[in-house]
Amino acid sequence: MVSERAKNLIESDYTKFFGRFIDDSVAKDKMYDLSVGNINRIKIVNDVLQSTLKNVMKKTSLLTKYPGTQGYKPLNEKICNLIKIETGKDVNPEEILLTNGGVDGIYNIAYSFCNPNDYCYYALPSFPYWSITDKAEVRSSVVVYNNPFRYKETFGTVFRQKVEKNDKIKMVILNEPHNPIGASINRDQVKIINEVCNENNILCVLDEVYRSFKINKDWIGNHVDNNILLDSFSKRFGMPGLRLGFIHAPEKEIEYLRPSFANQAVGVNMFSLLLANEVLENAFKLNLVQKVSDEIKERQKNLDKHMKKLKKYDVISEQPDGGMYRLMLLNKVKENTGLNATDICERLKQNNVKTVPGNKLFIYNSNPNKIPEIIRLSVGGDERTDEAGELIIKTFEEIYAEV
Ligand SMILES: Cc1ncc(COP(=O)(O)O)c(C=O)c1O
Repeated sequence: MVSERAKNLIESDYTKFFGRFIDDSVAKDKMYDLSVGNINRIKIVNDVLQSTLKNVMKKTSLLTKYPGTQGYKPLNEKICNLIKIETGKDVNPEEILLTNGGVDGIYNIAYSFCNPNDYCYYALPSFPYWSITDKAEVRSSVVVYNNPFRYKETFGTVFRQKVEKNDKIKMVILNEPHNPIGASINRDQVKIINEVCNENNILCVLDEVYRSFKINKDWIGNHVDNNILLDSFSKRFGMPGLRLGFIHAPEKEIEYLRPSFANQAVGVNMFSLLLANEVLENAFKLNLVQKVSDEIKERQKNLDKHMKKLKKYDVISEQPDGGMYRLMLLNKVKENTGLNATDICERLKQNNVKTVPGNKLFIYNSNPNKIPEIIRLSVGGDERTDEAGELIIKTFEEIYAEV
């Protein structure tokens, strides 16, 4: 009885990445959680949520109504303010569409700007974009990096080559700093992407969920003409559980994006909207975005102290250009020890460090012999990155002692 299209989603089921149920029972003090991209254990975030919840309770009458199909005007207005502060761009509330997380935003963009069997181009390893594009019946055109740190130097050049061979590429995703590579793309490569997009009428989706964690403040949007901006409360405010994302696009395009979202969900959960509205009210007063970003930077710094020592074990791990991830490239370690990335993840877990094995960051039909051995670390979920870093070093010491 199940439809073919539902069956087709089994391979790209997000459950493979996020897990079926939230695991609240993880022994927090024992396990160092450097795995899924949660933003967690930041005191000011919890303080803001506690105090804003009280204000939400004063507006419960709004929960007795359906939400708007595009958003909640006071919140859309505040998001415009946020975009203005961060990018300098003037935006009006009609140009903002609120979505169920950034993920839902990408889905609606793919659904609205691509036809079935068109292609979307992105780099691998990456956030599992294939789960989203599969649902929109859009195919993936990918560049698989055997050395992911080369992304910043070649992503645009490869894009040009792909577009020359495939006229069904209708969308490219630029994520900066890139999850999981941690790099911002070189500006000469962005120039190529912009030219190719303009010449071939391809949409550039700026996946900006990590914008507030960037070290290099040059905003990529200033270099790309035909773009749509995708953003979220998940990372910048440390609230992935809110499932609130937003799209900025010209009003004439929002007109098409709106029904693709509204016809499925009517609007975003009103409770999330009310809470987010209060959060933003406070965020401006308390400089919340900066404080979350400072905490992430501090965690990265503490981890980096240890990661530097990994060279001696032939682990390649470049310092990220902001963001919350750290990538370990282990091709050489596999040659030296016979252990692949999944084995090493397991060894890290035995030493109480939870990480994401690289095979989760490649599309399901990737040839296992062609993908690099990588592990992704996230500093979002645990503040104890100094201790976790020590345990990572200890794990490599142990592995090499056995060779
Ligand atoms: C690159 C990238 N884009 C989009 C998302 C989706 O974010 P959201 O939690 O808002 O759905 C994530 C989540 O980790 C991500 O890493």
